[in-house]
Amino acid sequence: MSGLLEGHLAVVTGGGSGIGRAVAKGYAGAGAQIVAIDTNLEAAAETASDILKAGGEAWSFRLDVTEADTCRAVAEQIEAKIGTVSILANVAGINRRNHVTSDRETVAGDWAAILDVNLNGVFNMAHGFLDQLRRSQGRIVNIGSIQSFVHTSNSVAYTASKHGVLGLTRSLAAELGADGVRVNAIGPGFVLTPMNEAARETNPDMMGNFLRHTPLGRAAEAEDIVGPAIFLASDMSAYVTGTILMVDGGYLTV
Ligand code: NAI
Repeated sequence: MSGLLEGHLAVVTGGGSGIGRAVAKGYAGAGAQIVAIDTNLEAAAETASDILKAGGEAWSFRLDVTEADTCRAVAEQIEAKIGTVSILANVAGINRRNHVTSDRETVAGDWAAILDVNLNGVFNMAHGFLDQLRRSQGRIVNIGSIQSFVHTSNSVAYTASKHGVLGLTRSLAAELGADGVRVNAIGPGFVLTPMNEAARETNPDMMGNFLRHTPLGRAAEAEDIVGPAIFLASDMSAYVTGTILMVDGGYLTV
């Protein structure tokens, strides 16, 4: 896939861990310059450092995607310091698993926090980088989930947020198509990342149930998301917009 993203400057949120780190490195390997963004600056800097060591070009920024004003300010800084962004991968996300009948405050807190990062964060970043993406005829790649279509246990807010990501992907694609900006999403199944490390340890049944429902019979590695993410950011998908590419081992087919 080397060269597919040559000449592009890609911003990857959640770039300090899991899928975001893998996508940032994958985009760099395909020739893009990378800006890794995360609330955890040390982790984003480590991603950038790995890319530099491998011969690529990368920068890191601390940014909380829930802060709309800061998203705009960082977008301006990046353009002034590095260049015009042409790929925005919205990967940052959180999950907290609580049943909706759990303690009221916990459930309300989960709802606010999850919607803020997973859905408002995608909007804040897309809006913050909108001018640059229109000028560069850019591409947005959002991370949805199987939960953009179905519910899995104890995840009312997460399921709602990922349904929202799909709706936002379609709306942005519809409004920005005339400007040459393409907007798509990826729908991963269960990916082995730090996000679900604790859940895997405390609830092995969850993993077993998931695998029984997955034709390919294994969970994904973060690297499984990279090829589809490069495809959606590259000219290979020049006539693809407003869609979600499921990378779920077949979960939604059964
Ligand atoms: P992860 O926990 O390994 O990485 C998420 C990264 O996002 C972390 O580095 C974290 O610091 C950063 N982050 C969290 N809140 C942030 C904020 N407000 N602003 C900026 N950065 C923030 O998680 P993972 O698994 O790599 O998840 C990435 C995306 O993939 C998320 O949107 C998640 O919902 C989605 N996803 C993950 C699946 C999985 O099984 N791991 C399955 C389907 C979707």
